[in-house]
Amino acid sequence: MNLSPQQISQFQQEILKWYKAHQRDLPWRRDRDAYHILISEVMLQQTQVGRVIPKYEAWLGRFPTIESLSQASVAEVLTYWSGLGYNRRAVFLQRFAKEVVEKYGGEIPQDKKTLKSLPGIGEYTALAILCFAYNHQVAVIDTNIRKVIATHFFEGVLPEEKIIERVAFKLLPKNKAYEWNQALMDYSSAVLKEKKIPIPKQSHFLTSNRYVRGTIMKFLVHHQIATQEDLEKEFAKGKVEVSLAKLQLNIDALCKEGMIIKKQKLFMLPQ
Ligand code: ADE
Repeated sequence: MNLSPQQISQFQQEILKWYKAHQRDLPWRRDRDAYHILISEVMLQQTQVGRVIPKYEAWLGRFPTIESLSQASVAEVLTYWSGLGYNRRAVFLQRFAKEVVEKYGGEIPQDKKTLKSLPGIGEYTALAILCFAYNHQVAVIDTNIRKVIATHFFEGVLPEEKIIERVAFKLLPKNKAYEWNQALMDYSSAVLKEKKIPIPKQSHFLTSNRYVRGTIMKFLVHHQIATQEDLEKEFAKGKVEVSLAKLQLNIDALCKEGMIIKKQKLFMLPQ
């Protein structure tokens, strides 16, 4: 993809001008605290802005600092996460907090390699922290931004990730990475709202394992402990048919990852 300097600067001006007029006042844009940025970005990975705002505010009301999160129980963390889906992300946030407090005195690291070595942090979250909290001049790429690039430069067809990365990097205006990345996100969700870009969906298989795991975790948040039989009964009540083999597979996986623990014949949340 060859972009001329004129094409690049024209696109930058168009987006930044649009953003000046239309930017949203969002709670995670009011400061550059790395812990605040982390919480918002992880919540925003699966849930729309409007639904994240009250969850974000309630979360910070209960866990205002990384130290407070590091001391919380998994059950309480999951309670504040409820409604956001992907429970695993909340458990990882808590593990992240513990590790940062223990290893780095509560300071969230400022380099990508260290960030990615911490629980739950992938490429996207690492770059979002570096850009939004520490003002590193990097291109952050999420679904919104992929959509802008596919629409403006690839006639609405998503190219492979390496190409997206190259274009996103070329488009970055000098010393304005924070504003630029936030602008692309708002532009995408407002202006390209109705535009459909085919994005690969998770398989039905993954979705249904997610349902099984979510149900087990929710049961433990409400009841603290469960026997194998309790869990089988819980699924028998549900609308979705779940085989015993599938239930067992997911119980084993959750135990292996430390999301739940088994003591004698009882399952419970860690701590
Ligand atoms: N989606 C992901 N990160 C976001 C942000 N910082 N603002 C708005 N939408 C987002």
